[in-house]
Amino acid sequence: MEDQLKQLRQSALEELSQVSDIGRLAELKVKYLGKKGSLTAALRGMGTLSPEERPRIGQIVNDIRNELEQLLLRKNDQMKQEEMEKRLSSEQIDITLPGRKIYRGRKHPLTLTLERVKETFMRMGFMVADGPEVETDYYNFEALNLPKDHPARDMQDSFYITEDLLLRTHTSPVQVRTMQAAGSNKPVRVIAPGKVYRRDYDATHSPMFHQVEGLVIDKGISLADLKGTLELFIHEIFGNRVRVRFRPSFFPFTEPSAEVDISCVMCAGKGCRVCSGTGWLEILGSGMVHPRVLEMSHYDPSIVSGFAFGMGIERIAMLVYGIDDLRLFYDSDLRFLRQF
Ligand code: FA5
Ligand code: MG
Repeated sequence: MEDQLKQLRQSALEELSQVSDIGRLAELKVKYLGKKGSLTAALRGMGTLSPEERPRIGQIVNDIRNELEQLLLRKNDQMKQEEMEKRLSSEQIDITLPGRKIYRGRKHPLTLTLERVKETFMRMGFMVADGPEVETDYYNFEALNLPKDHPARDMQDSFYITEDLLLRTHTSPVQVRTMQAAGSNKPVRVIAPGKVYRRDYDATHSPMFHQVEGLVIDKGISLADLKGTLELFIHEIFGNRVRVRFRPSFFPFTEPSAEVDISCVMCAGKGCRVCSGTGWLEILGSGMVHPRVLEMSHYDPSIVSGFAFGMGIERIAMLVYGIDDLRLFYDSDLRFLRQF
């Protein structure tokens, strides 16, 4: 019995010393220490031993079991360690490689311009109003003193959804909506920024563009208020050296009407390609709100008066940043957009 055990130990040690993978190690554990393993079988055979021999042989079996268990554990740890080292060295990353650049997003030049325009008017005490982009014929034209067959409608040809529903061609309908919501000659001082749509497409005109409408109504508002407000705004945006010109014009919803030009920001008014040699650039339309428009919005023109203006944000951004083609704003070319 004793010899048998010694042999068992010997062959176990030998087999263990040759093991090189974890799966095989588990097999050996079963083979020697498992329920049906060799050592367990030896223990069972002890029944045939004399009572004096039993404790001694039992001790030997236990010693071998302990020894093998220890060895298996150590072997197992060692293999895991080796495997880990192998993986670490095969999956090594070269931390000296330059990283992939993460580009930071930024605001679109039109957003930047719109924010500056809004901020400037808000500092002058204007509130921001809003209106729908899909507008009724009534608000877009009729309530602005542009009846159905008025020839001035042709200046703003639009996208119609039905006979009575269209994509708004300007932000001016928000004037009417604001007055109707305020009601009974209440003072108004708002700007209304937003998208507008026209059947246009060239270097300075796109089918969708942005306008900012302005409307001020109160007792005693005069053309002087209009001039003062717009001059202050223009100097805030373009700097104090820019000159401002009010040029008589026509809009059905204002009387008198004026278009506002600034001295060309490219040539400082000397005359160049951008200003077609005139030295001036048009940036907005404006005027005193027409009495008919006030009446249609249930305001009394004998009590209150007001002025309104509407500017194109694309135009302002082109002049602020020196951009000569409006379509660049909508091409989504990162080489262009990253410059702002
Ligand atoms: C109007 O739209 C009037 N509602 C402005 C107004 C408001 C006058 C209140 C009086 C009182 P106009 O059609 O000129 O006017 O357009 C105003 C500005 O929008 C223009 O000066 C120009 O800067 C811009 N604009 C017009 N069409 C386009 C277009 N297709 N693409 C880009 N900008 C445009
Ligand atoms: Mg115009």
